[in-house]
Formats: sequence, C-alpha cells, structure tokens
Amino acid sequence: MRNWHGERIWYGADYNPEQWPEETWAEDVELMRRAGVNLVSVGIFSWALLEPAPGRFEFDWLDRSLDLLHDGGISVDLATATASPPPWLAHRHPETLPRRADGTVLWPGGRQAYCPSSPVFRERSLALVEAVAGRYADHPAVVMWHVSNELGCHNVHCYCDVSADAFRRWLRERYGDLDALNAAWGTAFWSQRYHDWAEVNPPRTAPTFANPTQQLDFLRFSSDEQRAQLRAERDLLTRLTTQPVTTNFMIGTGIKYLDYHSWAADVDVVANDHYLTAADPQPQVNLALAADHTRGVAGGGPWLLMEHSTSAVNWQPRNVAKTPGQLRRNSLAHVARGADGVLFFQWRASRAGAEKFHSALVPHAGPETKVFREVCRLGADLAALAEVRGSRVDADVAILFDYEAWWGAELDSHPSVDVTYADRLTALHGALWRAGVTADVVHPSADLSHYRLVLAPTLYLVRDADADALRRYVEAGGTALVTYFSGIVDEHDHIRLGGYPGAFRDLLGVRTEEFFPLRAGESVRLDDGTTADVWTEWLHTEGAEILASYADGPLPGVPALTRHAVGAGAAWYLGTRLDQPATDRLVARLLAEAGARPAATAPEGVEVVRRRSADRSWLFVINHTGAEARLAVTGAELLAGGWCDGELVVPAGEVAVVRETSGGAGDRALPSGPPDAGAPAVHRTTDAV
Ligand code: GAL
Repeated sequence: MRNWHGERIWYGADYNPEQWPEETWAEDVELMRRAGVNLVSVGIFSWALLEPAPGRFEFDWLDRSLDLLHDGGISVDLATATASPPPWLAHRHPETLPRRADGTVLWPGGRQAYCPSSPVFRERSLALVEAVAGRYADHPAVVMWHVSNELGCHNVHCYCDVSADAFRRWLRERYGDLDALNAAWGTAFWSQRYHDWAEVNPPRTAPTFANPTQQLDFLRFSSDEQRAQLRAERDLLTRLTTQPVTTNFMIGTGIKYLDYHSWAADVDVVANDHYLTAADPQPQVNLALAADHTRGVAGGGPWLLMEHSTSAVNWQPRNVAKTPGQLRRNSLAHVARGADGVLFFQWRASRAGAEKFHSALVPHAGPETKVFREVCRLGADLAALAEVRGSRVDADVAILFDYEAWWGAELDSHPSVDVTYADRLTALHGALWRAGVTADVVHPSADLSHYRLVLAPTLYLVRDADADALRRYVEAGGTALVTYFSGIVDEHDHIRLGGYPGAFRDLLGVRTEEFFPLRAGESVRLDDGTTADVWTEWLHTEGAEILASYADGPLPGVPALTRHAVGAGAAWYLGTRLDQPATDRLVARLLAEAGARPAATAPEGVEVVRRRSADRSWLFVINHTGAEARLAVTGAELLAGGWCDGELVVPAGEVAVVRETSGGAGDRALPSGPPDAGAPAVHRTTDAV
C-alpha cells in the first residue's frame, strides 16, 4: 500500500477549472488558500476535452491549471478522467452503449453511458489513463490518483449482447461446466435446464420472476465487472506512477449493487462519498452508519471522505439546504469516525449543466456567504485537528454486513416486501448511536475476536464458514444478536433445510417451522408490553431461554425473543420487528450483558466518538441539539483551544474535540500537555453565520 497521509488532514473538493474562464483560476487558488484547502480532485469529467478526437490529446489547459495549483501550495488528486466517455466514442462505437433489462439503450447526454464489459471502452479508457499518467506522473502537485468516478453509479447493470457474452465467461469461470451451473441455479424448476452455454443470458425482462440464483449471479458479475475496470486502471497507474491510488466508493444505505468489501484491497486509500437524505429528519445518524461502514471496509484504519455537500444537493425531490453549523457537524462527524480527509463536491457552483443547483464551497453568490464562511471555519478546525491523523476509532461492537446478503434478502417472490435489508441494520445502528456506542460495520468474515458484542441484522444469505465464525465467537465468550430472516440460504440462494434460521439454528437454540408475516399496517403485542410489526414466525426453543413471547396476533404464546447460553457466551435471537423504544431497550440490555460502554455519558442528541493512537486519545463531541451540553471530560480542547478540567461545555449546534488525559480514555494513563491555566473550555458560537 502506498502511503497517502500528508502533514495535515486533507481538505478540499472536486475542482473543475474547465467549466470556467481562465481568469477565474487565480481567484480560485486565492480563495482555496483562504479556506485552508490543501487537496483538490481535478479532471474527473475531462475526457472530452483532454482527448477531443481518438488518440489526439490536448493537455495544455490542464498543465496550466496544475501549475497554478502547485504554485499556490494546493495538492492534486488527479483523475484518470475515464468517468464519462466523450460523445465521439458512442458515435463511432454504438455497441459501447449500455442497455437496460428491457433492451432500452442508454444514450450519451448524461454521464457514464458505457457498457462496463465493453472491450472498446476498456481499450480507449486505458489509452487515456496511459496518456494522463505518462504526462503527470512526476508533476509535483499530484499526490494521489483518482480512478474514474463512482464506478457503477448509473451503469452497474448492462444487459446488452456484449455483457451477455461476458456474463457467460464469468459463469464458466465460476462453475466450470453446465451441470454445476444447473445445480446452482436450481434449473430443475420451471423447465429451465440449460444444455448449451449460448442459451444462458443475463436476467433480461421476463414474463414472471426470473430465476433467483441467475439474478444473484448477475449482481455478483456486475459488481465484478466494475471492479475489473478499477483494477485495470490501478494496474496501469501502479506501473507508471508512484502516488497512492484511490477511487470514490458510495458506501451507504442508498447504494446496493457494488460489493465494496471485495474492492477494498484494490486501492491504497479507501475513499467514500456520502450525501444526506433531505427527507430524513435525523440525517446525522445515517451519516454515522455510512462512516462506520466505510471504516469497516477500510479494515478499521483511516479513510478519506472524497465527497459530501456543503449544503443542498440537486438530485433529490426536495433539496433542503444545511442549517447553520450543519456542514461543520457533518464533516467533523466523519473525522470522528475515522476520516483523515474531508472533501466536497464541488469547489465552485456550476453556471450550467445538470448540477447547477448543487451547493459548492464557493456558491453562485460568491464568498461573502454563510457557506463560504463555514468552509473557512472548517479549514481552521481541520488544521487544529492534524494530530488525530492515523489514529483509529474505538469500537466494542461489530455489525455484520454483507452485500450479497442484501442482494439475496431483497430478491423478488419472498415472504414479505416489508423485509428490507437496511431496515434492521439502521434500527440497531441507530439504537447504538443514541446510546453513544460506536460500532464497526464489517463483513461476516472479519476477525470478531476483539468485539464485546456482534449484531447480525437480516443476514439472509450466509456462508458456512461465516456462520461457523459467529459460533466460535460466541463460544469464546462473545455476545451476539441475530435478527429474523437471517441464515435462511446458502451462497446459491438455496434454503437451508430443517427449519429456520438454518445456518444459525444450533447457535441460537431455536427452530422455526413457518413464517407468519403480518399484513401492511398490522402490529402485534409482546408479553413484555412492547409492540412489533412486519414479521412473526412460529418458533420453538431448542435449548434457548424465552425472554418475550407474543401476547396476540397470529401466534399468541410463541416466543419472539430468546437467549441461548453457548460456551462462555450467549446468542440472542429476535423473531420480530420491534418498535424503536423496544429496540433501544434491547440494545441497552445487550450492551450491559456484553460490557460495552458509550464513549462518554452525554445528553440525548449529543454524538460522542473516541479516536485513539498508541499513546493518546481524543473525544469528539458533536452537539446536534438546540441546547448547551455538559459532559465530564478532562483534557485540552483543540477547536476553540482551552483546558477543560472535569467539565466540557458544548453550546447548541457546536463541536468539541478533547485530547484526553484520563477517565474516558480507558485504563491507560495518557500523557497530557500542561493545563493552560484558567482558559475556559467553552466554544465560539456559530460566528460563521
Ligand atoms: C456524486 C458524483 C459527483 C456529483 C455529486 C452530486 O455522485 O460523484 O460527480 O454528481 O454526486 O451530489
């Protein structure tokens, strides 16, 4: 892995100088310096300008831009520029255009209109990478390479004939022969047996439900095809250059079809893009989940926030602006959760094009604005936090996450459309967030041994090895919770027979003989007074202790929540969808049993996260509420400066980061700087607005 750490936390944005007259460029650099920006991603959508005709390259404008940035002390994350092909590619090679499942061609005019399996696209894109890398490998401004952009954002599934051929090759590689494919796809059903590879196709629009394993394999193939582009560009960059290589992932509950756990090893820097959902009244909780998941993908180490927004986006139905201070809270929440760089889309708000209503660091109204003032304040904050670079986030809890389980759980023709993968994931993670407990979101094959508690929400598809690993974790003294619709199928989406939840039946000491999903809007009561909806199941205990049963609904008296003592640990099972207060109470019980504690005791709505290095720890406190918060903390506060002696006061909407001396930092005695006598640890109010 190539080292990507600078002297400071990286701070910046996508920068698209080609959208502006050259007179603007000097002002851009001047404003970047004023804001404390030190890294910009350049050239992401520049292919059509860099290569106006096949094989004819024009780099002069990019030379001048990079030189100017370098003279201004701004480093560059240089794009390979392959994100969106120029119009000439489709004009000369219409076979490079992607097709939907119903055959609809996706034409140029937007972006990313290429078939991911196209050999023509691959060849032309690599020729561009070679030209760009060859020219700028030694440019002093370039500190990082940015492959493509959000690979698979718009073109992840292509059903054209070129893709069909590639899918067959992928299947041959996976299965070897047709007998194995027929067995895996269960083609004895509905007269689907294949006798010739040429008969096999992607799951194109069909009269009724397509074969589920065919669908699952097509999703795997599609993720692998995008990954293949990443690897091809990465290999070339590795050969021609010395700087670290990255690409921006889209880890979050909105992007389903790219298996980033399998991609992480292909990059030197795990980088992520995250945008708030404007309709979500508590978007900071979903932000935390995306960050915790990105850290899980990064193996627990630091990562880079490649894109988020200073304020509104343009692509949701109602694009809500960020309130004063929200930009800062969002950015620092990512840093708290392991980001060693904070970048945005984009530097200057566009005048033209589909994203002209998207916020930027420099808005249409210019730098005399709330947004630019907050951007400058954040630059100062990040400079003050330089010492946290490279530290890791404390997490006693793991949440298991598997893209294949997500894909499988949400295939069609299932017991209930109300069972969605993100539902229990967000419910359990939200309960931890409210409890001030940080979780790593990790793949089921991750090393679980250092966690006190492991949660497995909706792990519908699970491999034997991963189910065994969870059992060993519990036997060795761990506490685990598995929720309904987990352990149901193997990697071929074949039911694990003998009763649900198949793979976890023995571990949990339960056996379910039949699912009883509820009607839309229906709910049930449990005998502990809580309510639940969506799902119930006819469950028998086989060794587990019953903690709650249904009081009404289709299964009165049947267990809903159980606990099974296994080895030195315990495995809990939840067979229904508890409401939020009950989910919070369940998580509190699990935390107490497992001995997992919050980063600090904080009022409701105040986010607390701890980062730790070998000899120091830092407590991040993000006050999302409208009231002042007081916490018992001792140490040096880094953002406003000052010493807090036993009490930290964080005004409404503000953020504090304390280099701790003891207490919350755990058992280790940590060195501290000399107390700066008398300086109060009270922070600036939001003077940026
Ligand atoms: C990302 C993309 C950027 C920009 C941004 C707008 O998906 O990488 O290029 O489109 O969204 O929010």
